[in-house]
Amino acid sequence: MEDRPITLSPSLSNTHSSSEEDKTVLEIWGGASLHGHVGISGAKNSALVIMAGALLCSQDCLIRNVPALADVTRMAEILSALGVKLERQGNSLLVNASHIAQSKAPYELVSQLRASFFVIGPLLARLGVARIPLPGGCAIGARPVDLHVRGLQAMGADVQIDHGIVNAYLSGRNKRLQGAKIYLDYPSVGATETLMMAATLAEGETIIENAAQEPEVADLANFCRAMGAKIRGAGTNTITILGVPSLHTTDYAIVPDRVEAGTFLVAGAITHSEISLSPVVPDHLTAVIAKLQAIGAQIIEDAPNRLRIVPGHRYVATDIETLPYPGFPTDMQAPLMALLTLSDGDSVITETVFENRFGHVAELTRMGADIRVKGTHAIVRGVPMLSGAPVVATDLRASASLVLAGLAAQGKTTVQGLHHLDRGYENLTAKLQKLGANLQRTQLGADGDSPLVLPDPTIVTTVTKPGVTKPA
Ligand code: EPZ
Repeated sequence: MEDRPITLSPSLSNTHSSSEEDKTVLEIWGGASLHGHVGISGAKNSALVIMAGALLCSQDCLIRNVPALADVTRMAEILSALGVKLERQGNSLLVNASHIAQSKAPYELVSQLRASFFVIGPLLARLGVARIPLPGGCAIGARPVDLHVRGLQAMGADVQIDHGIVNAYLSGRNKRLQGAKIYLDYPSVGATETLMMAATLAEGETIIENAAQEPEVADLANFCRAMGAKIRGAGTNTITILGVPSLHTTDYAIVPDRVEAGTFLVAGAITHSEISLSPVVPDHLTAVIAKLQAIGAQIIEDAPNRLRIVPGHRYVATDIETLPYPGFPTDMQAPLMALLTLSDGDSVITETVFENRFGHVAELTRMGADIRVKGTHAIVRGVPMLSGAPVVATDLRASASLVLAGLAAQGKTTVQGLHHLDRGYENLTAKLQKLGANLQRTQLGADGDSPLVLPDPTIVTTVTKPGVTKPA
């Protein structure tokens, strides 16, 4: 078998910024109005967990509509380190987990991608053992995995955390995980997904109560069902899974990214521009659309799976409280805060999902916004205008809010920390340029050197071909 190591384009070699990346910035000249249509990519938060879900199956899985993102490449690296064969075919990924050589995921990779913890459920279900480094916290919160662990223990796994590694294995004579009734103290997306995947190959029935209802959970369930899993109720707060001995090959297309779509709706509103976007699933954006309409924009479904935003002349302050789905998504809190900085009056934004997700406030304030944070509340007092400034992104959605503010600000904004942006937005610069935005990605040269204009990073994921054997 001809194994070719995974290669990543230099600018995506890690989520921690390299000195080179620190010099890569997005320069935005605000005030341009946008027009036309933008294509929405596949959902990052579906792609990552569905790639992990392919570990449940020992045959080929073709996953379509997979966005070219740094996080996707990272997950591919982790799966490959476990012995999985992956091949990128345009915007599809062919995954073959017939020979899982490893039950331990490498720390240096897991530490760069929290979502890699999702492999614990499928690995344990397939191999009866999984050893996954604790993912640790990130800029937005401590992000423990206690609900994942407790659920796996309820299914008969012995789980010990030792030297930062979560060691999970089947105890006693059990050859398979056992069906169980699991009540989640919090409707965690990740815990619901981990336990749902583990239960697909368990013995008997598992019921997950107070489950997360996010569209990405339902998308994962549809993927597992396409492989032969028996799952009911995904997308509601009670999911029932009847375990089966094995799963089979599938060809599955993931849903469009509702957070990317929401971000472009805000781009239209904040630049007072009429734009359209597709494909989208409007139902996935109900809470976001309701808030944008309350602020003063109009959102029209002008064709199946297509939305058009018609901007308002003036926007009014609106309170937002982030909640698990179908409540207002925490991933849209930062982008919408950018818009509320330019709305008349005081808006109170309450972040209830993550304990430290106001990293963008200080940078928006640098651009002239008036925001005061008190615990989990941010009080945003609308200002007549923002002014361009050098700002630094602290996390993925914070980076999006700074780009949105830059599109509306007077003068030039320079956004640093683009490795955050590249984790979750595919070709954002090119997409915004196509809509008429005045921005470019540049590499700051040594003092006095004129900056080098760069395209969006091309994310190449070349991995070993599935099932290709050296010609005899
Ligand atoms: C998923 O993270 C998404 N990530 C996040 O998107 C999203 O913000 C989040 O769900 C909420 O919608 C992916 O799908 C890869 P949680 P996840 O488990 O699964 C606590 C983005 O910007 N909790 O629902 O990690 C936890 O600390 C990212 O695209 C426990 O206490 O979210 C948090 O406060 C950011 N114990 C809350 O629950 C646990 O065992 C919600 O976390 C698990 C979670």
